[in-house]
Amino acid sequence: MNFRQITAAERPATMFPLQAYAFMPSPWSAEDEEAYRRRMRYFETTTTLIAEEDGQTLAGVAALPMRQNVRGLVHDMAGVASVSSHPMARRRGLVRELLQRLLRQTRDEGCAVSALYPFRPSFYARFGFVGIPRHRTAAFAPEGLAHLLRADLPGEVERLPTSEGFAAWEGLQQQLLTRRHGFAVFDDVRSAEFREDKFWVAVARAGGEVVGAVRYRVDRHGGDLIASDLLCTGSLGRALLLQFFARHVDQVAQVVVRLSTDEVPELWGTDMQVSTRGRVANPTKNAPMVRVLDVEALAGTPVGPGAITIEIPDDELIGGVWRLESAGGALTVAKGDAPSVTLSAAGFSGLVYGVLDPVEVLARGLGEIPPAAVPTLSTMFPREMPYLVADF
Ligand SMILES: CC(C)(COP(=O)(O)OP(=O)(O)OC[C@H]1O[C@@H](n2cnc3c(N)ncnc32)[C@H](O)[C@@H]1OP(=O)(O)O)[C@@H](O)C(=O)NCCC(=O)NCCS
Repeated sequence: MNFRQITAAERPATMFPLQAYAFMPSPWSAEDEEAYRRRMRYFETTTTLIAEEDGQTLAGVAALPMRQNVRGLVHDMAGVASVSSHPMARRRGLVRELLQRLLRQTRDEGCAVSALYPFRPSFYARFGFVGIPRHRTAAFAPEGLAHLLRADLPGEVERLPTSEGFAAWEGLQQQLLTRRHGFAVFDDVRSAEFREDKFWVAVARAGGEVVGAVRYRVDRHGGDLIASDLLCTGSLGRALLLQFFARHVDQVAQVVVRLSTDEVPELWGTDMQVSTRGRVANPTKNAPMVRVLDVEALAGTPVGPGAITIEIPDDELIGGVWRLESAGGALTVAKGDAPSVTLSAAGFSGLVYGVLDPVEVLARGLGEIPPAAVPTLSTMFPREMPYLVADF
């Protein structure tokens, strides 16, 4: 078995048949293959690894170069995607070997963290990943926001085709990357593809600054206005975008919009009738998962007061004994001894990402935490829900 890294130009001949069989309706057509080939310019900076035998590609994995905010610190992130193996080569450990190589390589190239969308979370739990929230979807009739039509808000909303609204939308993403825990963005090479998407972009501005943006499409007269994540810097941006939705009364029956878990749409209006859902299902509707690839790269992360020595056994990337300490609210990391706590890679990642508290780590079997260590870990790594918007 030969494991090697390939270029984007090699992907159509090697990765395409695996990916097409795994993720697309099949058999596929020559046009499907040609469409894949045309997209390869957006994968020039992607790290792709394959396993091949006798000239045939049997499995492949890829990592998109991304950046992610984790508790206020922005890291290089490996966005794992395109994980697939030939049906006749499955359960031979090929993807396990490729993923281990991929995570090691991207860590060595500077990625402190990794994220992915699993087909089955327990598969990636074996690789040290832990779940973070899936977006919620709110569906409501524009009438529920009618009161906003009369509101005189200090700002305006412009509706643009993607080609014209992309720069503002992307600028807001970059701004949110520095402000919002969990937020992640692609590099310029990968994100250039989204410039070609057939969406409207509603851009909310106040005082000349972009304070909100949402991409959307309308499926039909009397149908749905289907929006992606409601991105805003604060309540003015949100109110301006909701006011814009309200203007679609009698044009669409409902607005369907993606939200983070901390949005509470029933509070958007007095007569607000809304259905908010967070549906999770294998294999296509799973919540994302994340893991830490490099403990030392977490130095400087804003944390609560405290100090603790932890051991992460059996993890090739972050295994060892680590002294974690808050120095004036910023994490310091050093090699340690005499650990008081044992954590799996997933348990540690759950604490760092703020999705699990120490008792939940214990209850989930992701660590051994004596009661005396619970308050310190809870204070240093308080619960804080990440919001990953990028889909990959
Ligand atoms: C999922 C997939 C990539 C697994 O590939 P594979 O080459 O069979 O994986 P491996 O043989 O390396 O398996 C690694 C481990 O996961 C286990 N595993 C494999 N498939 C699994 C599944 N569907 N559910 C649970 N565990 C699974 C293996 O038993 C093995 O466990 P071990 O290390 O304890 O022995 C492959 O089945 C596939 O291409 N599926 C369709 C596409 C897909 O869903 N891709 C994932 C997108 S996120």
